[in-house]
Amino acid sequence: MNIKIKDVDLGIVDGIIIPVFENSDIKSLEVQSIMKSSSFSGKKGDLFYTTEISGGIKYKIYIGLGKKETFDGEILRNSIAKAAKKAKELKLKAFAIENFESDEICNSGKVKCMVEGVRLSLYTFNKYKSENEMYSPEVYICGIPEEKINKGNEILEEVNNLVDGVITARDLVNEPANIIYPESLANEVIKLGAENGFEVEVLDEKQCNNLGMKAFLSVAQGSEKAPRLIVMRYIGNAGSNEVLGLVGKGLTYDSGGYSIKPTSSMVHMKEDMGGAAATVGAMIAIAKNKLKKNVIGVIAACENMISHKAYRPGDVIESMGGKTIEVLNTDAEGRLTLIDAITYIIEKEGATKIIDLATLTGAAITALGNYTTALMTNNEDFYEDFMKSAGLTGESFWRMPTFDHYRKQIVGTIADLKNVDVNGAGTIVAGMFLKEFVQDKPWIHLDIAGTASTKNPISEYIVKGGTGVPVSTLYYFVKGKGQHNKEVSN
Ligand code: BES
Ligand code: ZN
Ligand code: ZN
Repeated sequence: MNIKIKDVDLGIVDGIIIPVFENSDIKSLEVQSIMKSSSFSGKKGDLFYTTEISGGIKYKIYIGLGKKETFDGEILRNSIAKAAKKAKELKLKAFAIENFESDEICNSGKVKCMVEGVRLSLYTFNKYKSENEMYSPEVYICGIPEEKINKGNEILEEVNNLVDGVITARDLVNEPANIIYPESLANEVIKLGAENGFEVEVLDEKQCNNLGMKAFLSVAQGSEKAPRLIVMRYIGNAGSNEVLGLVGKGLTYDSGGYSIKPTSSMVHMKEDMGGAAATVGAMIAIAKNKLKKNVIGVIAACENMISHKAYRPGDVIESMGGKTIEVLNTDAEGRLTLIDAITYIIEKEGATKIIDLATLTGAAITALGNYTTALMTNNEDFYEDFMKSAGLTGESFWRMPTFDHYRKQIVGTIADLKNVDVNGAGTIVAGMFLKEFVQDKPWIHLDIAGTASTKNPISEYIVKGGTGVPVSTLYYFVKGKGQHNKEVSN
């Protein structure tokens, strides 16, 4: 797909998307007459299209933006996404998006939201279909004033790089577990690192064993497929000691192990590497946009399987951090892999702050559904900055408590810790378990079990399967608050 900021002669496109405010006072005669003669009123999500008999443009797609006062970036993303899907249905090979009056700034820049709306809504994962129709239109964003075109093009490039990261994360989640397993994931990341400008080092089972990563290797030991520790490094500010560590859960398949999952829960467990996929996606966005920050990503990639070699409920295992753990449920495996990755990123990579992202608990889906990611933290400033970055995206987060009380739920009977507890608060208990291993580092935990993939898309630009959440927020967090450009919004 090719998106350009360019006023085009409408003769060269076969359709035009026209965003309309519900309470605009400069409606064209055409819009006025459509509003009179149809149910289209410019309400958020309203869509109306016409076919022109004469003149060059075949189709006009009117899309409602709602009231000017409530307009924001998320509304624009969704409106443009809906219109773009209509353009696809109408098989438009080239379409323009008309500019519209918006002195009320959308919260994250007009060009950005339009590009996200178009590219993310038209995303498909159809490489395994015998007949896979590609829809890749020429798109023109029109009406940007001359003096803002350069800035607009800069934003276009930045957003395209970000969306590349989101789409890679979606692709990785959507790939089945017979294609993406620890070794093939590592090879894919090596390739992506070379293409996008970050360094990749892959540690094999033996090297992980030498590092004492016993908790990670216990989860991995039941599978034929050997585990890999995938380390991604992007040093954008060599003069600084600050290193953000991203730790992504990388279960390329989670059968539950001996605490086996029922069929219906197992069917989506190729997606249990959503945290790893988003970590890779964020590294791509960060490196391609050459952000001046240091970011290291670590994925402890393995499969949770059943075999004569697999770990058992009741086993006591060690961890790289030194604490011993009673494995009461082999399906609570993610936390066991993550704690060794967290210890590794602090002790071997010098991470000064940590964000882990993991499809960790079904309880997060029960609590927050598919829309909101559960968040836990040990640091208020880190939390505030993260939430400001989230505000530039359509991604939603909600904080869970880390009250000391919950620590009781992870204290082991015959070992230091246990990996599950029967007293509820499943999402919090999992987060508390990770917290034991972050030492004194500022830390944010994101449980993306409900948000990394979806069966029922929650917005116009999310499609079934991998969502790419939370790549955007991670990107803007690394970029730094207050740097986001709102200028092209007008
Ligand atoms: N990968 C699952 C969590 C999950 C569930 C992700 C549904 C996406 C969709 C995780 O490893 C798991 O099985 N967690 C258990 C923990 C329990 C045994 C304490 C769960 O949530 O049931
Ligand atoms: Zn599990
Ligand atoms: Zn899992």
